[in-house]
Amino acid sequence: MSVRFALMLFLPALGTLAQEPHQPAAAPSSPANRLPASPADLAAGAALFQVHCALCHGPRGEGGKGPALAQPFLPRAPDDAALLRVIAGGIPLSEMPGSQLPAPAIAQIAAHVRALGRLPPERLPGDAARGAQLYAGKGACATCHAIHGRGSAFGPDLTAIGARRSAAYLRRALLDPAADLPQSSVPYRSDVSLPENFLFVRATTRDGRALAGARINEDAFSLQLREPSGRVHSLFKSELATLHKDRGFSPMPAYGEIFSIPELDNLVAYLASLRGQK
Ligand code: HEC
Ligand code: HEC
Repeated sequence: MSVRFALMLFLPALGTLAQEPHQPAAAPSSPANRLPASPADLAAGAALFQVHCALCHGPRGEGGKGPALAQPFLPRAPDDAALLRVIAGGIPLSEMPGSQLPAPAIAQIAAHVRALGRLPPERLPGDAARGAQLYAGKGACATCHAIHGRGSAFGPDLTAIGARRSAAYLRRALLDPAADLPQSSVPYRSDVSLPENFLFVRATTRDGRALAGARINEDAFSLQLREPSGRVHSLFKSELATLHKDRGFSPMPAYGEIFSIPELDNLVAYLASLRGQK
C-alpha cells in the first residue's frame, strides 16, 4: 500500500475524530443526566423526534435506515447518560448524526426515546436458524459478505447489521438492493458509511485490462476499486482509457425471485439477530 493511499484512508478518520464533541464527564446518575418526565416535556420530545429522528428511526421508533428504538434495551445507549451522549454527539463512522439542539431539547428527545422503549417489542415472523442456513446455502451471501471475519469483503460487513438496520430496511435490501444507493453525483464523502458510498465502477486501462468493482476511494488523480473476488486495485486515472460509474446499480441480486416469502422472513430474522461488534 502506498503512503499516499494509506494517508487517504487515515485522514478522513482523523477528521471524524476531531469533530467528536468533548463530553462533560458527569456520572450516569448525576442530575445533569436525569431525563425530564412532565407531560409537556414528553410532548415536546415526541414532536422533536418526528422532525429530527423519524426519517431514519421511523415515526413510532420502529426503525428504518436506523435501528428500531422501540425496544427495552439499546446497546449503544445502555443508560441515560449514554443516550444523551449518542443523541448530542452521534455515532462516529456511522450514519447516526450528532444534533445541534440545546441540551434541554436533547433531554426531551431522550425521554421520548425511553418512552418508545416501553412499547411492546416488534415480533418478527421468521426463524433465524433457518435463515442462517439460507444465508450459507441457497443465498450464497458469503460470496460477497462477511460475518465475524468469515466470507468476502466485497459487500458491507454484516456482523452487526441487526444493530444498525431495522427489519423493514433489511427486507427491502433483499428485495430491492439498489433502493438505498446514491443516485446523485455527490462526491466521495468519508463520513458516510460504506453502503451509502457504494458505487459500482467499470474501468479499462490503456493497456487493455477491464476491471469492475466497488469504488473504495477516489481523488482527482487515482481510484481504488475492489473486485467481487475481494482483490483491490489501485489505479492512476492517467492510466485509464475509460471510466464508467454505475450510479444506482447494485451488483447484489434481488432475492424476491429466489426466495419464497417464508424464506425471506427467515433470512430477515437471521440478519436482525446479527448484533455483534464489528
Ligand atoms: C440519517 C439517519 C439518522 C438520523 C436522522 C438519526 N439517526 Fe439515530 N441512528 C442511525 C443509525 C444508522 C444508527 C446505527 C449506527 C450504528 O450503530 O452503526 C443510529 C443509532 C441510534 C441510537 C443507538 C441505538 C442502539 O440500538 O443502541 C440511538 C439511541 C439513536 N440513533 C437515536 C437517534 C435520535 C434520538 C435521533 C434524532 C435526534 C436520531 N437517532 C437521528 C441513523 C439516524
Ligand atoms: C454479488 C455480491 C452480493 C451477494 C451475492 C449478496 N450481496 Fe448483499 N450487498 C452487496 C453489495 C455490493 C451491497 C452494498 C449496497 C448495494 O450495492 O446494494 C450489499 C448490501 C446488502 C445489505 C445492506 C447493507 C447495509 O448496511 O445497508 C444487506 C442487508 C445485504 N446486502 C444482505 C445480503 C444477503 C442476506 C445476501 C444473501 C441472501 C446477500 N446480501 C447477497 C453484494 C452482494
